[in-house]
Amino acid sequence: MKPTVFIDRTVPSEVEAKIAEYCDVDKWEGTNRIPRELLLAKLANADGLLTAGSRVDAELLTHAPQLKAVSTISVGYNHFDIDAMKQRGIIGTHTPHVLNNTVADLAFALILGTARRVAELDRYVKEGKWISGAGNKWFGQDVHHAKLGIIGMGRIGEAVARRARFGFEMEVSYYNRSRKPEAESLLGVRYLELNELLRESDFVVMLAPLTPETAKLIGREQFRLMKPSSIFINISRGQTVDEEALIEALQSGTITAAGLDVYEIEPIPADHPFLSMDNVLTLPHIGSATKATRFDMAMLAAQNLVNALTGQTPAHIVPELQ
Ligand code: DGY
Repeated sequence: MKPTVFIDRTVPSEVEAKIAEYCDVDKWEGTNRIPRELLLAKLANADGLLTAGSRVDAELLTHAPQLKAVSTISVGYNHFDIDAMKQRGIIGTHTPHVLNNTVADLAFALILGTARRVAELDRYVKEGKWISGAGNKWFGQDVHHAKLGIIGMGRIGEAVARRARFGFEMEVSYYNRSRKPEAESLLGVRYLELNELLRESDFVVMLAPLTPETAKLIGREQFRLMKPSSIFINISRGQTVDEEALIEALQSGTITAAGLDVYEIEPIPADHPFLSMDNVLTLPHIGSATKATRFDMAMLAAQNLVNALTGQTPAHIVPELQ
């Protein structure tokens, strides 16, 4: 008998077809996220779940007595309750590597967008305010040759550093749990303790994955160390930053601007202060969202799931479950 898989978000037909070669497939076809109750009900007979962000915790596992594997179409897997999954012996996989360059490109969209005030100026032009030359009120900051500090030097961090060093001739520092001697010599980046990186950098890019150690890693105290001219970019997870402290830092001029792809609550509530702040550039968590990369991620996630359910070791089991 074929294993049964539930797909809880829309995926390309090729991805579904790949899973259907080996498994019986049921899927959610709505455009919004599947309601939790329905997801739990759908898992009653599932051996595998293909998801992208649904919380996989003790509650979900209780409703899924047959579940053997969960494959997420994302590199981040902070929605996995590792202890609960370990206890049940669930195989959990993710999609590293294929998105590195795409997310690094988006980091630069946010760096350039905030530094050169792209969204604000777009509004200025479209609102018919460009009557004579844009005055110095609209001048931005240079990205080239500026100091970039990367928090979290994984594969995406290295891709950001490569663009910064060789594209924009920036001076790049990084802070990471462990030193990366190879990256230091290949990319010409230097390691700094977090406080020093915050003090020195013109742009701080948060890339550390969300873990108990990185939750609210950047708060009031850390923003106070940054230069008043500095710009903060977050493309990791919203919970790595104390949002209230960030709002305060932006409103008081402790830092100049922020470029954000991620938030404590997603989708961001309509009355969130960020949405009425001109010095915040907001994106809807689209770091890896190009057509090609999202296709590759979904295909990789499908392959991981099929392998897990057909007795082969998937290539991308999350480190804590290996
Ligand atoms: C990931 O893969 O974790 C990204 O945040 C999705 O855009």
